[in-house]
Amino acid sequence: MAMRTMGRVVSRGRGGRTPGLPYNRHVHQLVVTGGFPLRGEVAVLGAKNAILKHLVATLMAPGSYRLDNVPDIADVTLMGSVIEHIGATCRFSGTSVEIDVPDELVPEAPIDLVRRMRASILVLGALLARCGEARVALPGGDDFGSRPIDMHLDGLKAMGAEFELVHGELRARATGGLRGAEVSLDFPSVGATENVLFAGVMARGTTVISNAAREPEIQDLAEFLGKMGAIIRGAGTSTIEVDGVPSLSPASHRAVPDRLEAGTYLVAGAITGGDVTVRDCVPEHLRMELRKLGEVGCETEVGKDWIRVIGPSRPGPVDFATLPYPGFHTDMHPQMVALLSIASGTSVITENIYAARFRYVGELNRLGAEVSLEGQHVIIRGVDRLSGCPVDACDIRAGAALVLAGLTAEGDTTVTDAQHIDRGYSSFDQHLRDLGAHIVREPNGSGTTTA
Ligand code: EPU
Repeated sequence: MAMRTMGRVVSRGRGGRTPGLPYNRHVHQLVVTGGFPLRGEVAVLGAKNAILKHLVATLMAPGSYRLDNVPDIADVTLMGSVIEHIGATCRFSGTSVEIDVPDELVPEAPIDLVRRMRASILVLGALLARCGEARVALPGGDDFGSRPIDMHLDGLKAMGAEFELVHGELRARATGGLRGAEVSLDFPSVGATENVLFAGVMARGTTVISNAAREPEIQDLAEFLGKMGAIIRGAGTSTIEVDGVPSLSPASHRAVPDRLEAGTYLVAGAITGGDVTVRDCVPEHLRMELRKLGEVGCETEVGKDWIRVIGPSRPGPVDFATLPYPGFHTDMHPQMVALLSIASGTSVITENIYAARFRYVGELNRLGAEVSLEGQHVIIRGVDRLSGCPVDACDIRAGAALVLAGLTAEGDTTVTDAQHIDRGYSSFDQHLRDLGAHIVREPNGSGTTTA
């Protein structure tokens, strides 16, 4: 086993945080006083779901990297810790991170880090490609029901990897090296596409991924890998071809803007009947979400890199189904339900990506919403108004949705466990305050200190 380089300078995270400090030590709640229309502009940074993969990609070649447009969010900090455990050094400064990757790596991701973030499983493909072996604890992440990794493993097995599960740790080996293969995914899984992509860029021969995920973040990852010397065709389409190369070299990259952060602020504008412009985004990446915002009665305007949404006095109902990109994004589903909870009629949303992304429903109903479930269908009977009370943020998007609901609810809505929101949104409450929201952050338990 390669030994971790000794004498490494321990880098400090932004704002004095050490990468990897368990974010559940910073347990906060957000108290939102509803009834103030949001107005103004907000700029978004790079996509969490792109940057997490860029951090993993750096493991594939020794040397120095720089990533820009990086948000200060807990999941990025945590992935910084994962790659630091493997041997890299990360120096965060403002919205950039410089990463040094040594010649030798420790090809393992330990349980205490992996358990907190499902994306850690992506080191599997990258480490198999670079080191020929990897040990990764089985992943955790948001609780949306069972989230298997069978497609990741089947794809990597087709490329010559062998797996053994020992004490909750997946031990992977590609004894004869990885070889290109035809990998056909049962479902266009984002993570499985990325893991096979990582494995393919340094495999012998050509890998063809069919039914690949088409997300903009995958295109962005392919662009970064291309700068590192990878040969990839078709990223952003459902067939990706990768010609393996013997080695890669370091590169710099600016991440694609976060369409989920952008979409969330647009819904914040819509739900308050406000007027919000999101800057530094890619309107095309939110085509379906903008169409639905138009159908609920928002006025929308788009420029090259900005979107403006003017909310209706009361939203109308809409129906839609979440689907892989370019369909309506599952990670905008809870925010949209918050908006539809005050619509002038009944909406039906069908969740097709996750079996159980519904924990937020009970919390929203505590605010007076009338949302019920029938299998994968969410039925939302619009009510005249919500009324504030304590609710719990159970995951990133659910937490954001509950804050949005609080913006329109009468009185105060206290969203506890806001650290979930901090996993995916940088300065969420500050951005909302800048738009005119009345929202304060305090330790969980209103005023009482929590260790
Ligand atoms: N799935 C399987 N087997 C697999 C892989 C996936 O059954 O081997 C299932 C999952 O259980 C899930 C569905 O396929 O029901 C979609 O999973 P996918 O692999 O596409 O998602 P992911 O890579 O685990 C990423 C994002 C999620 C986002 C999904 C869908 C990252 C780090 N996470 O997850 O983002 O919801 O794609 O677009 O990229 C978030 O940002 O809040 C978030 C949860």
